[in-house]
Amino acid sequence: MRIEVLKHHAGIGTPRDDLSSKLKVLVTRDLPGDAISRLSERCQVDLPTPDEEIGHGRMIEHLADKQGLLCLLTDRIDAEVLDNAPLLKVISVCAVGYNNVAVEEATRRGIIVTNTPGVLRETTADLTWALLLAAARRIPEGDRMVRSGGFVGWSPSLLLGRDVHGKTLGIIGMGDIGAAVARRAAGFGMRILYHNRNPSPLAAEVGAEMASLDHLLSNADFVSLHVPLSQSTRHLIGKRELDMMRPTAILINVSRGEVVDEAALVDALRNGRIAGAGLDVYENEPKLAPGLVELDNVVLAPHVGSASVETREKMAQMAVRNLMDGLEGKKPPHLVNPQAYRG
Ligand code: DGY
Repeated sequence: MRIEVLKHHAGIGTPRDDLSSKLKVLVTRDLPGDAISRLSERCQVDLPTPDEEIGHGRMIEHLADKQGLLCLLTDRIDAEVLDNAPLLKVISVCAVGYNNVAVEEATRRGIIVTNTPGVLRETTADLTWALLLAAARRIPEGDRMVRSGGFVGWSPSLLLGRDVHGKTLGIIGMGDIGAAVARRAAGFGMRILYHNRNPSPLAAEVGAEMASLDHLLSNADFVSLHVPLSQSTRHLIGKRELDMMRPTAILINVSRGEVVDEAALVDALRNGRIAGAGLDVYENEPKLAPGLVELDNVVLAPHVGSASVETREKMAQMAVRNLMDGLEGKKPPHLVNPQAYRG
């Protein structure tokens, strides 16, 4: 561990004594842009060196004297971690999804949890479309063919894909990101179906019709998942649902891997029950279900939904702002558990 604030303040003459009065925070991984140096102006920041992994055990050790935690979606913050963090007041997750945090446990202990919604909406919608188009038009297969010398000339039947324009897009989870994906579909002249627990206020603007899950699955040419992970969305797409999809349909998942039963998906792709898939997330990241990598009809991305320079910098700034506001007793802009906020 290096103490970032020591490094940061060395050149600007902050008296060493000031460190003792600063709140202590753990940041589990370096973040893009200047977010961490901004944080270190106000807090004593504990940051691992780039080659250091903060696993569960080290997290527990390092949280013993910390008031704040800025973590990533890969850090498991469970009851055991919280039990060993007696001073912790704020957990700022640098992601929109916060299923890695035991939020109820945090709330019970009066610890506020924040996330970074909004800023990554458009970037994640872009990636959704990149996967959708790549899967429909078999771009990675073509890329592999060209690179390996397998392209021996134009052929009328070479890598025939599926049209996107004029087709039906099914969005499961018409929140912010789902609506941004739907908005892009207008340029492709698509009909849009969506499934939500409740009617979405965003649906009218993007011209989407509400449908039951089963109706959407059996009528959409492309099914795109945009739900948060919860008990009710775990394995939302399993064998039954894949069997309902059209054999020509393509499934896109940029939400959370556990929303799809990955073994059932491998089966459906292998047996041609559906035509293809585009995945950014996996059930047991970074492990993949057996057989997935051998399939040509799936496009695989390494969980990069929000990974653009601009968006990752904004997420880092937002995560720092959430953390600082929480530590200073102000209501952070993106509070996940308002019940824990005491003002
Ligand atoms: C998030 O923020 O939850 C995304 O999965 C990051 O890519």
